[in-house]
Amino acid sequence: MALLIKNGKIITAEQSYQADLLIEAEKIVQIGKDIKAPEAEIIDAAGKYILPGAIDAHVHMQMPFGGTVSADDYAAGTKAAACGGVTSIIDFVTQAAGETLVDSLKRKEAACIPQAHIDYGFHVCITKMAENTVAEMKELVAYGVPTFKVFTAYKSSGLMIEDGDLVEVMQAAKEIGARISVHAENGSIIDNRVAKFLAAGKTSAWYHYLSRPEFVEEEATLRVINLAKSLDVPVYIVHLASQEGVKAVNRARNEGYEIYAETCPQYLHFTKDVYKQDNGKDFVCSPPIKGQASQDELWRGIERGDISVLATDHCPFTAEEKEWGKDDFSKIPNGCMGVENIYPYMLDKANQGQLTFNKVVELCASNPAKLFGCSDQKGAIAPGYDADIVIYDPEQEFTVTADKMHSNLNYTIWEGLELSGYPVTTISRGEIVYNNGEFLAEPGRGKFIARSLEA
Ligand code: URP
Ligand code: ZN
Ligand code: ZN
Ligand code: ZN
Repeated sequence: MALLIKNGKIITAEQSYQADLLIEAEKIVQIGKDIKAPEAEIIDAAGKYILPGAIDAHVHMQMPFGGTVSADDYAAGTKAAACGGVTSIIDFVTQAAGETLVDSLKRKEAACIPQAHIDYGFHVCITKMAENTVAEMKELVAYGVPTFKVFTAYKSSGLMIEDGDLVEVMQAAKEIGARISVHAENGSIIDNRVAKFLAAGKTSAWYHYLSRPEFVEEEATLRVINLAKSLDVPVYIVHLASQEGVKAVNRARNEGYEIYAETCPQYLHFTKDVYKQDNGKDFVCSPPIKGQASQDELWRGIERGDISVLATDHCPFTAEEKEWGKDDFSKIPNGCMGVENIYPYMLDKANQGQLTFNKVVELCASNPAKLFGCSDQKGAIAPGYDADIVIYDPEQEFTVTADKMHSNLNYTIWEGLELSGYPVTTISRGEIVYNNGEFLAEPGRGKFIARSLEA
């Protein structure tokens, strides 16, 4: 069925203009004034904005982590995403014991295929350089997975990569047309600080923050950037949270290096004071949320272009699981929810004039598409592109409450957030998957996004 969206204001990363938009066979086929398509279903978008669907390039659905599995499976996670205007996710694959990288991808993909409501891709995590790692990376690149992730943290849970292996992974990526993302915190310093605090009886969520303060992120960020510079390899720092990290990225970019950074709404909205609250455990994520000065610098980093991408790091755990850490912060599973909130949150900031709508589209859709190799299909509104579209009503007031959210959780760190404007319709490859509070998609309709970084 063709869809004709009439009278809306189209907003891309570059432009805003009034036009009609015609969708046929999953694609945008025409944009212009007074399009006539007698067979098409018509959506009147007068007074509304037509945006590319967001691409959340950092989510963890049903990921084994922190002694459990993150609470949103692909069905719930992609439903929540669609209801918040996200039309593509890129999820992380971690290896199980004895598994090859390719097997780990196949396992996650098999879980995702029957459940996905929107399109999806994967980044594969590498924890060490083994004999077959480069060959497997090549196989994954050929399959449409050209992005890999390493952690310089989570030493005790076995995810941390050693510096020697990190260098080899970066070099290999350059040779085979892949891109490396890094979770940059110093794992050894964290483990020592955690042990010291616990031994001293300092067990509350506040000590989660103090075990991973600003310099812990700064050190790892500087190290990773120095390695990337020395090897002349582009690198992408995920979930940057500290002002020191932003400044490190800014310096490297000013020197002309291809260093990219991502941040998440929780770092733009909250401060470390949340860890002193009774529900501090709910905000435990890594890196932890930092102080006001860091929040301010993150916003400046967005303005300057040091931060290229907004993503969520959506990795929710149930309230009961978060309780595991009530007498020991190190037992709180790390991660927060946000996949349904990121686009409404950022668009609200645009609606209030803090940044332009074009900038929000750049951060949430077109830059992730470019940096992660799907900008030929997604992240833009132009003929030939996938019809992944959000209709946003700048007049629709919305207050976030857990019962209105679609993830598998009965609480949200975003409870009570008041938004002036909200996405009213989400279209995924030409199909209306969310409309005025109603979720309409069938599981299994989402498709794998084969990505490539070769221009
Ligand atoms: O706390 C977090 N961020 N949990 C998910 C894993 C990660 O580090 O991205
Ligand atoms: Zn991380
Ligand atoms: Zn993450
Ligand atoms: Zn609902």
